[in-house]
Amino acid sequence: MRAVQMTAAGGPDVLVPADLPDPRPGSGELLVDVAVAGVNYIDTYHRRGVYPVDLPLVPGQEGAGRVAALGGGDTGGFAVGDRVVWANIPGGYAERAVVPVEAAVAIPDAISDDVAVGAYLQGMTAHFLVSDCAPVGPGDTVLVHAAAGGVGLLLTQLATARGARVLGTVSTAEKAELVRAAGAAEVLRSGDDLAARVRDLTGGTGVAVAFDGVGRDTFDASLASLRRRGMLVLFGAASGPVPPVDPQRLNRAGSVYLTRPTLHHYVATREELTARAAAVFAAVADGSLQVRIGHRYPLEQAARAHDDLEGRRTTGKVLLVP
Ligand SMILES: NC(=O)c1ccc[n+]([C@@H]2O[C@H](COP(=O)([O-])OP(=O)(O)OC[C@H]3O[C@@H](n4cnc5c(N)ncnc54)[C@H](OP(=O)(O)O)[C@@H]3O)[C@@H](O)[C@H]2O)c1
Repeated sequence: MRAVQMTAAGGPDVLVPADLPDPRPGSGELLVDVAVAGVNYIDTYHRRGVYPVDLPLVPGQEGAGRVAALGGGDTGGFAVGDRVVWANIPGGYAERAVVPVEAAVAIPDAISDDVAVGAYLQGMTAHFLVSDCAPVGPGDTVLVHAAAGGVGLLLTQLATARGARVLGTVSTAEKAELVRAAGAAEVLRSGDDLAARVRDLTGGTGVAVAFDGVGRDTFDASLASLRRRGMLVLFGAASGPVPPVDPQRLNRAGSVYLTRPTLHHYVATREELTARAAAVFAAVADGSLQVRIGHRYPLEQAARAHDDLEGRRTTGKVLLVP
């Protein structure tokens, strides 16, 4: 099969197209013909070695496609030909992938493979952030960094739908338009005086929650933007990891809370996974959650996809097509 493989950590050029043997499903696993693979920021952490991985690796944590074969044992009720989506399983940048049945979720008929992937890892992330990690609602003003990104556009919509007032940050005018269309009340350019501008827009109070997937470059501004007893939800590090934090800073910022959540812990059981996926797909199907497929690259151009994602040139979901 055609795949993308990395044999060393490094820049985008370590993502090399390769002909590899088809993976073989074991007991409790599915072999899937990959229709579309999702590109997520975590793939760049794996590629750079920020999160260590075993090499050689076929990267990619997410995809959608049709079941081509069953590995035996527990089939999870899946049959050959079923359309499934999965996340948090390596090996997505390929024509075929092996997916444990407990990680596979059936794609509703009304939802295309592209949209299923666009709504899946990033949609479930946005969903757990606003509904479980830091539940937001009417009366809350929240800050969403990188609001035109894959997670950001979905988070902006879900927070707005729950009645929150969203202040979104972006780096360009084109991204600002997308974020306004997603429901943000205000769009701010990332920059030095961000916390002061957030104070201005909240009558000096600050935001109830800062959703920060940017990390190193925005952490201080996020902390300084919080209202008394607000919450900083640090859920990623697109600009680099945040250095160690002195807990006393949380006191000085107004007895605020800091959490560093990951999707894995919010879809830890089969029941949690299927319920969260169903909630996101229902919102997509009824039109209340719009999925923007910003970019589709041929599988062979995985390096270019990473370069564009890290270069802040993408909006919405980035896909690879085998
Ligand atoms: N915790 C979890 O479970 C979980 C799950 C999914 C994703 N995440 C995290 O969520 C974040 C967003 O992921 P995504 O896949 O949706 O990516 P994305 O938001 O589509 O892309 C990253 C965005 O971050 C912004 N950014 C600001 N400073 C940057 C810098 N120095 N370098 C690169 N980008 C910068 C850019 O938007 P502007 O140019 O508009 O600033 C860029 O478009 C990532 O940190 C990811 O790790 C976490």
